Amino acid sequence: MTIPANIIASRHRLSPDMGWLLYEVTREFSSSLEIDEVLGRVLSLTVSAIKAHVGSIFLLDADGKVVRSILARKDLPSEVRDSTIGAVMEKGFGGWVYKNTQADIISDTKEDSRWHVFPDDRLVTRSVIAAPLIRHDMTIGIITLSHPKPCHFGNRQLELLEAIAGAAAMAVENASLFKRVQDERSMLKRLDTQKNEFVSHMAHDLKSPLHVIFSYVELLHQFSGLNEEGKGFVKEIRTAIERMKSLISNILDINRIGMGIESEIVPVDLAFIVKDTIKNLQGLSREKGISLASGPGADLLPVNGSPVRLGQALINLAGNAIKFTPSGGAVIIQGAIEEGRVVIRVTDTGPGIPLELQHKLFQKFSKLNQKETRIQEGHGLGLAIVKSVIDAHKGEIWVESAPEKGSTFAFSLPLSMQ
Ligand SMILES: Nc1ncnc2c1ncn2[C@@H]1O[C@H](COP(=O)(O)OP(=O)(O)O)[C@@H](O)[C@H]1O
Ligand SMILES: [Mg+2]
Repeated sequence: MTIPANIIASRHRLSPDMGWLLYEVTREFSSSLEIDEVLGRVLSLTVSAIKAHVGSIFLLDADGKVVRSILARKDLPSEVRDSTIGAVMEKGFGGWVYKNTQADIISDTKEDSRWHVFPDDRLVTRSVIAAPLIRHDMTIGIITLSHPKPCHFGNRQLELLEAIAGAAAMAVENASLFKRVQDERSMLKRLDTQKNEFVSHMAHDLKSPLHVIFSYVELLHQFSGLNEEGKGFVKEIRTAIERMKSLISNILDINRIGMGIESEIVPVDLAFIVKDTIKNLQGLSREKGISLASGPGADLLPVNGSPVRLGQALINLAGNAIKFTPSGGAVIIQGAIEEGRVVIRVTDTGPGIPLELQHKLFQKFSKLNQKETRIQEGHGLGLAIVKSVIDAHKGEIWVESAPEKGSTFAFSLPLSMQ
């Protein structure tokens, strides 16, 4: 948003030409979000707008401690730098501006005790003008400009500097917020990687004791000394182990896919994967009394992707459709090319999903608390896997559904041109 110069000018009681200057200067402040760049830009533009010679800018934390700075003297070694900043804030003009939250002028440094003279100061400084950068009633910085001649700055410059400081504070705050968001984002990314590593180690470690249990249960299963009740118990244990194995492999899958599948990408015909999925699930759907077929569509659906992962995605969608549709229903998988993309739709005549629950569908471990579907077993990881597969392929996934109207789960991938 740009505010017209005359409005800025009247807001700060500036003359129109000063208003233009303010407008021109502050327009440049926000052209970057890199905090050091913003500080440097604010300083150099303000020095030239106020017709100063050199300047410095301090950025302060909530306790008034200087956390970043650009000094007029760029040649100071770091320990001298730090003690200079300390002295300016403790006894010098910077500290005065901070304590009084007020902009002010030193007409002649020789006659003003607020000016702190350094023993080796090679810069001749006679006039100084400084202003606090204030955001939400907090002083977040101080800008100080100087000139070698005494009485160089007047009220016009003071007003202009105060107006510039307002815009500078906003630009600095934006850049600080941006930096904080970026820092937090990279911390979250690090934590997420750590979590993925932890989870995949744990899942791996669970596999070997589970394998031992499984082997002994197999032995028990073949053991002739068990009565019918004992055989029933062994069967229950085997089912539970199978469920645990599938949970572990789902968790491992989610992690792996999340960490990237680039190495698995090859040209794939999704029409073939649709046929293959139907063939693989035919037994299951017949057992449940549900018809499973492909709808009319294109013969060739070329994409680039991982055939294993795309097959896994489709098996999950079609598997859900069969699982949640009552006997006598139908599931149709349809592939089409639409607007340069391959679109796959899995449609069922099941219970449907109300709009207010749909946003939960693709989250991990989310099983919807609908009476029609909650009795079915599962860990609520299937659709999360499908989404991560489609995300890893730069595709889109969505659902169209309403209670008692059935559901269509669909995804689209970029059409491969080869
Ligand atoms: N075709 C569908 N019809 C109705 N509800 C569905 C369908 N597919 C998924 N759901 C709902 O979404 C939930 C999550 O599915 P999913 O992630 O595959 O987990 P799971 O199959 O292990 O329950 C299911 O528990 C179910 O409530
Ligand atoms: Mg599922």
